[in-house]
Amino acid sequence: MGAILVLGATSTIARETVHQFAAERKKLVLAGRNMEELERIKQDLEVRYQIQVSVKAFDALAFEQHQGFFDEVVVESGELEGVILMYGAMEDQKESEQDFDLSRKMIDVNYTSAVSILNIAANYFEKQRRGFICAVSSVAGDRGRKSNYIYGSTKAGLTVYMQGLRNRLHEAGVNVLTVKPGMVDTKMTYGVVDDSFLLASPKKVAKDINSGLKKKRDVLYTPWFWIIIMLIIKLIPEKIFKRTDI
Ligand SMILES: NC(=O)c1ccc[n+]([C@@H]2O[C@H](COP(=O)([O-])OP(=O)(O)OC[C@H]3O[C@@H](n4cnc5c(N)ncnc54)[C@H](OP(=O)(O)O)[C@@H]3O)[C@@H](O)[C@H]2O)c1
Repeated sequence: MGAILVLGATSTIARETVHQFAAERKKLVLAGRNMEELERIKQDLEVRYQIQVSVKAFDALAFEQHQGFFDEVVVESGELEGVILMYGAMEDQKESEQDFDLSRKMIDVNYTSAVSILNIAANYFEKQRRGFICAVSSVAGDRGRKSNYIYGSTKAGLTVYMQGLRNRLHEAGVNVLTVKPGMVDTKMTYGVVDDSFLLASPKKVAKDINSGLKKKRDVLYTPWFWIIIMLIIKLIPEKIFKRTDI
C-alpha cells in the first residue's frame, strides 16, 4: 500500500487526522515547515502504532520547490495512496483590510500554493489512475461575510479549484474530497472564536475526514450540521444579507 502525504502536518486538525490514519497502519509522510515538531509527531506515532513515518520539509510559499519536493516524496516512499492538504492561514479581517501583505499571505498560503502543489499531485494521480486528493477548505468560502471575507474568498477559490479537479480526475478513478469544517477549536481560532456549542473538537473533524475518505465522498461538511447552517445562510437574499452582522 502506498503512503499518504500530509501537507501541513503540524496543524491542529492534521495532528488528530494522522492518528486516525496511523491507527489503521497507514504509511505516512508528514510535511511542513517545522522539522523539530514534525520529528516529535513522527516519534509519537511510531511508538504508539509501530508504523513507518517519514518527515519532509515543505513550505507552501516556496512554489518553485514544489515539483522537486513532490518528486522526492514519490521516490522516497515508492508510491503514494493520497495527498491531504491541511495547512492554512487566517489573519485578522480588519487588519487585512488595511495591510495588503496580510491579505496576500492568506491568498498565497490558502489558494496559490494549493494550486501549485495540487496541480503536481493531480498529474501524478492521473497517470497512476488511482488514489485520492483531499484539501481542507472552509464553510467561510460558502458566502462572503464582512467579518471574514478575505479569508473566506481564499477558501472559495480553493473549493472551486477542488470542484474542477474532481471533475477532471473522476475519469481516472481518483477521488477528490473537499472538507469544509465549521468552527474548530485549534490554534487558528484560539482567542478569535468565543467558546460556543458550535466549536467542534479537532478529533471529531479528524474522524469525519477519515470516514469521508473511506466513503469516497466529494464534499464533507464537518460537523455535519454546518451543511444546514450554510444552506440557510446561502438562501438569505443579498438585499437582506448586506444589512446583517453575521
Ligand atoms: N480552525 C478552524 O476553525 C477551521 C475552520 C475551517 C477550516 N479550517 C482550515 O483547516 C486547516 C487546518 O487548520 P487548523 O485550525 O488546524 O490550523 P492551525 O492549527 O492554526 O495550523 C496552521 C498550519 O498551517 C501551517 N502553515 C502556515 N503557513 C504555512 C506555509 N507557508 N507552509 C507550510 N505550512 C504552513 C502551519 O505550520 P507551522 O506549524 O510551521 O506554523 C500550521 O501547521 C486550515 O486550512 C484552515 O484554514 C480551520
